[in-house]
Amino acid sequence: MSTAIEITGATLRHGARTIVDGLTLSIPAGEVLVVTGPSGCGKSTLLRAIAGLRPVDDGTIAVAGEAVTGTSRDRAMVFQDDALHPWRTVRKNILLALTLRGVPRSRRRAEADRWLGEIGLDDFADHLPRELSGGMRQRVQLARGLAGAPRAVLMDEPFGALDAQTRRSMQQLLIRTLTAHPATVVFVTHDIDEAVLLGDRIVVLGRAGEPVRAIVDVPEPRTSSSANDATRTAVAAALVSPTAAAVHPPAAQQKATA
Ligand SMILES: Nc1ncnc2c1ncn2[C@@H]1O[C@H](COP(=O)(O)OP(=O)(O)O)[C@@H](O)[C@H]1O
Ligand SMILES: [Mg+2]
Repeated sequence: MSTAIEITGATLRHGARTIVDGLTLSIPAGEVLVVTGPSGCGKSTLLRAIAGLRPVDDGTIAVAGEAVTGTSRDRAMVFQDDALHPWRTVRKNILLALTLRGVPRSRRRAEADRWLGEIGLDDFADHLPRELSGGMRQRVQLARGLAGAPRAVLMDEPFGALDAQTRRSMQQLLIRTLTAHPATVVFVTHDIDEAVLLGDRIVVLGRAGEPVRAIVDVPEPRTSSSANDATRTAVAAALVSPTAAAVHPPAAQQKATA
């Protein structure tokens, strides 16, 4: 498998503060890489750097062999808060992605309608985003992101604002959609179940400035197989901060050293 995204010694800072310190990570084409970690650890910062929305302060991030220096249609971002064009209908939001991708005018409408079918929104083609529920808007964002046939889809807690049931149906929709339209995906979530369900591999970042805590493979990706249980346990363990444990040692340990 070719490498889609190559992160080499990438350091990301906010002012004087180092958030991501010398991260090296190779993401093969077609992989769904989940990035998780404690709140404020730099998940969004890393995703924005891959998208080219912010600079890399040290090291490099390359996509398909080219250093990222700014945004590109090759890398689609899907945010938690929907970023649809509010004045464009659902169909026109998707048509725009197809136009930017260079799909000939004669084929665009049919392709947009195929996407509307895939996300179950045929009946909402002519609606404006504000006339849809949050879950529906995320479906449109997903279709729009993938319709542009990007090299990478970068998703920042895309289902984080949805209720549990809608979230589950969005996870299934994402799985079906990626089966039909394989893409390299970097998916940020702080939900362990979502991470294990969606990822081929899960990276657990340390707190801001700290090293990566774990990189774990999912043995049977996108299934509910018990073969994935060990992965869930490993991710859960890595999410428990070693720093917090050092600052607040368990009572038994305190006694032992007292
Ligand atoms: N624009 C900014 N200016 C300064 N600090 C920021 C900015 N954005 C994020 N940070 C800080 O960088 C750290 C990582 O933020 P972020 O990447 O949003 O974390 P996460 O997505 O993992 O919750 C946090 O401590 C946050 O306060
Ligand atoms: Mg974030």
